[in-house]
Amino acid sequence: MRDALDSALVERAAALLEAAGHVVVFTGAGMSAESGVPTFRDAMTGLWSRFSPEDLATPEAWERDRETVWRWYAGRAAAVREVAPNDGHRAVAELGDRLTSRGGALSVVTQNVDDLHERAGSEVAGHLHGSLFQPRCEVCDRPAGGELSVAPDLPHCELCDGPIRPGVVWFGEMLPAGAWRAAEQAFAAADVVLIVGTSGLVYPAASLPIEAAERGTPIIEVNPEPSTLTPTTDCFLPAAAGTALPALLRV
Ligand code: OAD
Repeated sequence: MRDALDSALVERAAALLEAAGHVVVFTGAGMSAESGVPTFRDAMTGLWSRFSPEDLATPEAWERDRETVWRWYAGRAAAVREVAPNDGHRAVAELGDRLTSRGGALSVVTQNVDDLHERAGSEVAGHLHGSLFQPRCEVCDRPAGGELSVAPDLPHCELCDGPIRPGVVWFGEMLPAGAWRAAEQAFAAADVVLIVGTSGLVYPAASLPIEAAERGTPIIEVNPEPSTLTPTTDCFLPAAAGTALPALLRV
């Protein structure tokens, strides 16, 4: 983690946001890290350090052992229920309020499957990798209702008795079409993109800020460490979300 945030960098990023009509905030697991939700690739506490993705987050794992896969996601949903949005989530919601009050707009596009942006007061334009709180029937695709997400045992569909599956995107699956369309529209309309807490390793999600940068959209990034997206950014703030995002609102 770097030392105190360079005020000139913060002022530059704040000026880009101040001049913008439409801001896209593109977030990854680092956005929720300070709330206590492990990131995917953090060596110490990352989810994958305890599980192999093939054992849990693939259609094959689901076919092989639905109970174990369901219990892992139900445990993650229950863990999210136990934590709270952090100062970074609240700063994103405040930025959205400020933009709206001056006739602008803020679109949150997230790779995260938690609901911390929503609980901080933001509307999420697209959950690109689904949500822990949108389980659905594997057979008839009927939404099962968020409260089922934390049920420890494998629930079944009231309509067709099919198994209820986690509402998250597994490796090899297509992204939700509605979320992807909303994300593409938001990025196309963006005057500025603010990237927070993603390694930028997973596609097609990571292609959205890269293509925006290629169109000349200014990119701001908040991350304690450089990511694969950092070379495309106009302003890199080497800090945690809970530090940098509130600082951007205080300029
Ligand atoms: P990663 O775990 O790959 O990256 C987390 C990023 O957050 C890293 O770049 C960290 O440096 C940064 N970070 C850590 N703490 C932070 C903090 N307090 N503030 C800001 N940034 C911080 O997570 P993602 O990039 O979100 O996909 O991973 C993308 C996708 O890979 C996930 O959505 C998931 C996974 O496979 C699916 O589940 C389909």
